[in-house]
Amino acid sequence: MSSRPIAILGGTGPAGTGLALRWARAGESIIIGSRDTQRAQEGAQKINEKAGNHARVSGMENSAACAAADLLVLTVPFEGQAALLKQLKPAIQPGSILIDATVALATGVGGRASRTLGVWQGSAAQQAAELVPKGVSVAAAFHNLSADLLNGDPALDCDVIVCGDDADANQVARALAAKIPGVRAIDGGKLENARILEQITALLIGLNIRHKGHGGIRITGLPPEAYK
Ligand SMILES: NC(=O)c1ccc[n+]([C@@H]2O[C@H](COP(=O)([O-])OP(=O)(O)OC[C@H]3O[C@@H](n4cnc5c(N)ncnc54)[C@H](OP(=O)(O)O)[C@@H]3O)[C@@H](O)[C@H]2O)c1
Repeated sequence: MSSRPIAILGGTGPAGTGLALRWARAGESIIIGSRDTQRAQEGAQKINEKAGNHARVSGMENSAACAAADLLVLTVPFEGQAALLKQLKPAIQPGSILIDATVALATGVGGRASRTLGVWQGSAAQQAAELVPKGVSVAAAFHNLSADLLNGDPALDCDVIVCGDDADANQVARALAAKIPGVRAIDGGKLENARILEQITALLIGLNIRHKGHGGIRITGLPPEAYK
């Protein structure tokens, strides 16, 4: 995968930056996407400095990032997701894979971060699948990883459940997850299960507030081949 650049749309926020840092350290070529080219380039520069000598992180406006990569990771707030995907539709290459990490938190409408919004399609990831061009495959992943921990140095203690209706997109997302130290990737089945992943994020945020921590999830009891 390291010859295939990964474009992180909305990659200037903590979630995108943390994923970029871990993948840059793993040797992946990363494009930080932003609505603003300069912000993208400044964000990329910071990640390069943090990730070390061999890091390959560049910054581009989101549509330029889509034109430059066919492996896309979406890390924007839910309230911006639909409008951004509509805007990017002409720029997304046919056959691309889009991995969505969006959580429909109630903060988008002034509510609590420990609650989610009802999404007509079932989840933010299913909304994304409805908005991407035909032939683009969507997987849902990374909802339950703490951005604070991703932006640090230690290995994480968390599993990533990947949901998606396309086997290839699901497999690519699991391979990316497994590149993050301490993370095991698990196939979570159909994209409709993303609604559960998104709800777990709200629960984790509530736990983090209550216990002042950075909670994650581990799934136990599956056969070894279930974990990547
Ligand atoms: N933070 C976490 O621990 C975490 C963990 C798992 C999943 N998530 C989910 O991942 C997503 C990103 O999380 P985050 O904490 O990184 O979010 P964030 O900082 O609020 O936003 C990420 C980036 O999205 C862009 N953006 C913001 N509003 C936008 C809009 N209306 N339209 C288009 N782009 C917009 C911004 O980049 P530019 O201004 O540079 O364009 C921003 O830097 C969210 O859906 C969140 O629920 C977060």
